[in-house]
Amino acid sequence: MIAAVESDLAIIAVGAAIPDRVVTNDEISQRVETDDAWIQERTGIRERRVAAEGQTVTSLAIIAARQALERADIAPAEIDLILTATASPERSFPSISALVADDIGAHSAGAVDMLAACAGFAYALGHAVAQIHSGLATTVMVIGSEVLSGITDWDDRGTCILFGDGAGAVIIRAGAAPTKENVVVELGVDGSKGGDLVGDLTSRNGKPVDRNIRMNGNVVYRFATQAIVDSTRRVLEAGGWTQDDVDLFVPHQANLRIIESGVARLGFPSERVVITLDSYGNTSSASIPLCLDYAWCTGRLQRGQRLLMMGLGGGLAWGTCLIRWMGEPA
Ligand code: COA
Repeated sequence: MIAAVESDLAIIAVGAAIPDRVVTNDEISQRVETDDAWIQERTGIRERRVAAEGQTVTSLAIIAARQALERADIAPAEIDLILTATASPERSFPSISALVADDIGAHSAGAVDMLAACAGFAYALGHAVAQIHSGLATTVMVIGSEVLSGITDWDDRGTCILFGDGAGAVIIRAGAAPTKENVVVELGVDGSKGGDLVGDLTSRNGKPVDRNIRMNGNVVYRFATQAIVDSTRRVLEAGGWTQDDVDLFVPHQANLRIIESGVARLGFPSERVVITLDSYGNTSSASIPLCLDYAWCTGRLQRGQRLLMMGLGGGLAWGTCLIRWMGEPA
């Protein structure tokens, strides 16, 4: 589905939680047969962050949420809804969003988690836009949080090189932009390719199975390179925008080659594309808010800019959102 809605909603703040522990490609190559040059050439990843013992999807989400709230300078009671996207929750319930709401004191908020794998954050953003545009909510917190190291098979060199841990949170608010303009959301999925990217979390036939990620890398690669281009073009067209109207392109950080091929075909200059893949790897639903946090901290996010955020992955699902940034400078 795709829709453009005239709105003055905008993102007003971002927060992040980045685990301290750095795992380099060299460290991975001590465990599986691979090397730094291969990983960098095929993926663009130099290193990734891995959660410490005791750090969970919930604890990372809480750190990111607190930071976003502090930077937005609003009261927790002003949050109407918390949506957390994750593909690696430590349990089925209570939801991570419920625990975040309690921790930050968002006692008037509704709270629910969403699962659309690496498209999860974009899906949650799309739902936030819908709730705000419908009038049901004024202020929504959207979180992406992952501890993928817990579901990674560290003996599978085809997948363990790719993933990392972290969390990011944004706050979206009605009336934050001075004028109304087209906010655009596309959410899509091709479930026929669902078996090409699978994360096992639960028991099968009542028996516990190892948590792991299985992937048909080439199929996912082909899907991703096409989806990034097609969805971006549809979103721009639906909103009556062109590439020149987009100040920052924030793609999901799956693989540098996927991003570079998409960006080249779309014609975005590299200075308008945010990359954190080299330092964080693929953090699934956390990758877009971590990019926003990086762009904000480095002064690349300026008030009034239009952001085009594109997530894709397991499902195979994709989500693309064009939303303004109205946060204060760092
Ligand atoms: N180190 C060294 N060699 C490796 C390796 C590693 N970590 N992983 C795979 N190889 C080998 C393969 O075994 C294969 O060897 P062979 O030719 O002897 O059979 C060779 O490298 C090429 O494998 P291939 O899978 O074709 O490599 P690729 O160029 O497609 O790169 C990925 C593999 C996983 C990096 C790439 O397919 C990819 O990034 N796909 C998208 C994955 C993704 O983004 N998933 C998440 C989406 S949200």
